[in-house]
Amino acid sequence: MKYLDKSKRGWWEKAVFYELYPKSFQDSNGDGVGDIRGIIHRLDYLQELGVDAIWLCPVCASPQVDNGYDISDYCAIDPMFGTMADMEELIAEGRKRGIGIIMDLVLNHCSDQHFWFREALKGKDNPYHDFFIWRDGGPDCPPNQMRATFGGLAWTWAPEVGQWYFHQFAEEQPDLNWDNPAMRQELYRSIRFWVDKGVAGFRLDVIDQIGKDADLEITNNGPRLHEYLRELSAEAFREDWLVSVGEAWGADIERAKLYSNPDGSELSMVFQFQHICLDQEPGKDKWDMIPLELPKLKACLADWQRQLHGKGWNSLFFNNHDLPRIVSRWGNDREYRVESAKMLATMLHGMEGTPYIYQGEELGMTNICLPIEAHVDLETLNMYGERIAQGYDPGEVMASIHARSRDNARTPIQWTAGKNTGFTTGDPWMPINPNYTRINAEAALADPDSVFHYYRKLIQLRKTYDVFHKGSFTLLCPEDEKIFAYTRDTEEEHILVICNFTDETLTFDVPGNFWGSEMLINNYVEDSHKLRPYESVILYYHD
Ligand code: GLC
Repeated sequence: MKYLDKSKRGWWEKAVFYELYPKSFQDSNGDGVGDIRGIIHRLDYLQELGVDAIWLCPVCASPQVDNGYDISDYCAIDPMFGTMADMEELIAEGRKRGIGIIMDLVLNHCSDQHFWFREALKGKDNPYHDFFIWRDGGPDCPPNQMRATFGGLAWTWAPEVGQWYFHQFAEEQPDLNWDNPAMRQELYRSIRFWVDKGVAGFRLDVIDQIGKDADLEITNNGPRLHEYLRELSAEAFREDWLVSVGEAWGADIERAKLYSNPDGSELSMVFQFQHICLDQEPGKDKWDMIPLELPKLKACLADWQRQLHGKGWNSLFFNNHDLPRIVSRWGNDREYRVESAKMLATMLHGMEGTPYIYQGEELGMTNICLPIEAHVDLETLNMYGERIAQGYDPGEVMASIHARSRDNARTPIQWTAGKNTGFTTGDPWMPINPNYTRINAEAALADPDSVFHYYRKLIQLRKTYDVFHKGSFTLLCPEDEKIFAYTRDTEEEHILVICNFTDETLTFDVPGNFWGSEMLINNYVEDSHKLRPYESVILYYHD
């Protein structure tokens, strides 16, 4: 298998990334929680899949209020995950297999247990006090009514200093004050620590919030955002082969061109969410669901494809650790689970950008249906409490949790049909999806028609044909409500991607220039002149 040379700028444009949620990947010591040694043990599996890099969700020291997105020491490994020596071994073992490690950097906020915050609470003249965002006022009079993403007010009263501090997420996640240059330098030092350890790059958590103005109630896309990004890039990402991925819920196409400017002044690519928010009520939040309209999805993705071409770089994804499983969301996780999982992958992997596979997606893992007591995610639990108190119908609240909760993505990887699905010898920290007896890696590896082997093939196609990397994009039949079809073209190479988003058998007129072309991949084994339920195909020819 050929691997990309990761010492060259731009390697990520031909790469496929794998997002790994360590708590649920593989336990090695029987405590029920995944760990770094577990990941090392499974690297051969990822090598077989063919991915080029792992986006490793946070493994730094953390009280785990938000599963590691509340960091208490940026340069230490949380003992739950192992030791620094384990981490070094993971980086080295990854490198042997051509797999880079991308650290998850949470720079917008830290944990209230971080030394900086504990110092900050000691007094207004402590040097670390200004590392955070404070406002004066009485304990009954918050600076404004801004809401935190995880519920409640975004301000918490600290009696120790008689002030309010700002937190966009949980109160245990105080926001860092990016207007303080000394704070920024401390963060850059931590980043350099990991560069020196040999990581391939970084994913930057909610990076669109670092330029916020808490008084004006602006969180995303604040006035100094891009100035700070340029400084961060110049000071911390000095090597041009380091990949940097900016999570930006607030990015539109124009912003994305700044984030991923090909001149390298900010980040390598943007990770934005416009397409994945199309099935929620506009202006409301993710719990308020509406059905997906395929023409809207096509228009959105086509806009990004066309307008960013040559001007920036996007991430391609349907899943991550904050999103429900796509096969349950926009596919059919019952009779067409395998077909629809493959179809969705085809649609995405045919496009321009860097595809991300979220752990278990390559197995066609599905959402889980849990009673509220079995949920662990604080966002889910807080929303449940708030909505029940507001008088929402409990059945409706649970329906949105089953469809949207982050816990859907966080159940342990299903490795085998055996005890605890081979994830742990102890008690798993989260329930295992009962369908593990059917859906698991062991079965998928043994079945040449599995979702796993299909992803493997898609990854190989991207490495074999240049058109996947740089072909221009043309959307076909934009108004069709059932079929998503597009072409990609370079001077020499052409592909046509056709995807049936329904459980019906349809017809599709292949444009004349693709008659007699080569079939690169198809999610059905037998030939047919019809487009079968959730069928997808990629056709290819070169001049
Ligand atoms: C990002 C992470 C999410 C986390 C939040 C706060 O959106 O992906 O998991 O809870 O930021 O750090």
